[in-house]
Amino acid sequence: MGKFVVMEHPLIKHKLSILRDKNTGVKEFRELAEEIAMLICYEATRDLPLTKTKIETPVTGGEFETLENPKIALVPILRAGIGMTGAMLALMPTAKVGHVGIYRDPETLEPVEYYCKLPSEIAEMEVFVIDPMLATGGTAAATVSFLKKRGCNNVKFLCLIAAPEGVARLQKEHPDTDIFAGALDLYLNDHGYIVPGLGDAGDRLFGTK
Ligand code: URA
Repeated sequence: MGKFVVMEHPLIKHKLSILRDKNTGVKEFRELAEEIAMLICYEATRDLPLTKTKIETPVTGGEFETLENPKIALVPILRAGIGMTGAMLALMPTAKVGHVGIYRDPETLEPVEYYCKLPSEIAEMEVFVIDPMLATGGTAAATVSFLKKRGCNNVKFLCLIAAPEGVARLQKEHPDTDIFAGALDLYLNDHGYIVPGLGDAGDRLFGTK
């Protein structure tokens, strides 16, 4: 079973509490989402394998640790995942970015990919799927499935807030995918919102309603 890691860092807890506040405006919400994403990204990349590389410093030569696989792909799920991408790019500026858009067919209830543009070599990359809210887990699980069909076998999932239902579904469908969450909340309400949550992450990030 992959890891499920909930952040315990006081800075993340503090920033998340302000993010949840319904009186936090769009500018501050965006900034906080990026700051929290960067801190979660720091944790989510902790296990990336390292290798020894020969490097000449101005003083001497030596073998130093570098990423074994520096090919990294960020895959924000449209649209709210975009609100976490810039911060992760700040930490990993050479990462490639793929975008995935998925909706649920109202008749079949099956996830349908309406947009997908991925880096060409994604199968060889360390892939980080990004979505602020892991709610039912349907979209997250479908995105990981799409990525696996394209040959990816190294996929991690990052979110700001997870619901137990979403964690259970993603773990059940993709037990090999590590999940990193800023917080684990209580449950999903009848409208599919995470409780206590922060409302609609996309609306709050982009100022829509
Ligand atoms: N998506 C959101 O934006 N918020 C939730 O609470 C659940 C899903």
